[in-house]
Amino acid sequence: MDENNIYHLSYVSTGCDGLRFEHIKEVLEVAHENNKENGITGILVYCNKHFFQILEGDKDTVEELFTKISIDPRHDNVIKLQSTFIAKRQFEKWSMGFKSYNKELKPLDDFNTEEFYCYVKEQLNHSDVVSLRILADFFDLNG
Ligand SMILES: Cc1cc2nc3c(=O)[nH]c(=O)nc-3n(C[C@H](O)[C@H](O)[C@H](O)COP(=O)(O)O)c2cc1C
Repeated sequence: MDENNIYHLSYVSTGCDGLRFEHIKEVLEVAHENNKENGITGILVYCNKHFFQILEGDKDTVEELFTKISIDPRHDNVIKLQSTFIAKRQFEKWSMGFKSYNKELKPLDDFNTEEFYCYVKEQLNHSDVVSLRILADFFDLNG
């Protein structure tokens, strides 16, 4: 895979009613396993019932995964924010990093709020990915 031509896809969605810790834990377990196998990296953020996710990898693989994710009954209102090619992965260390703003999901977090805020800000120094900028601006209001 050409690591200088990575496909980035981001979307937002709304978690289904009754979504809880166990459901999200399960999503992350499956995501870690599949994404490692398929060369996908990214971040999943959960806040006030809403998901924000970035998927990075080979274009066809990412699009195929997004088609699957779009029909997953654990969320709806899936709205694509951006799909574009980027020069370098922004979340290369994470098969699917997770950051939540809900107290009960904290045990699943890969970052504390400060770490995550700093990481996103750092990525913005060498990227013009609009969806990440939206996320950073969102943190300025909510972080
Ligand atoms: C918010 C959300 C994010 C998800 N992210 C991923 C992901 O990054 N990778 C993945 O393989 N599945 C992810 N899934 C789960 C997929 O929708 C699907 O259940 C999973 O890929 C298993 O598909 P399979 O049964 O065809 O293997 C996510 C689901 C939700 C609700």
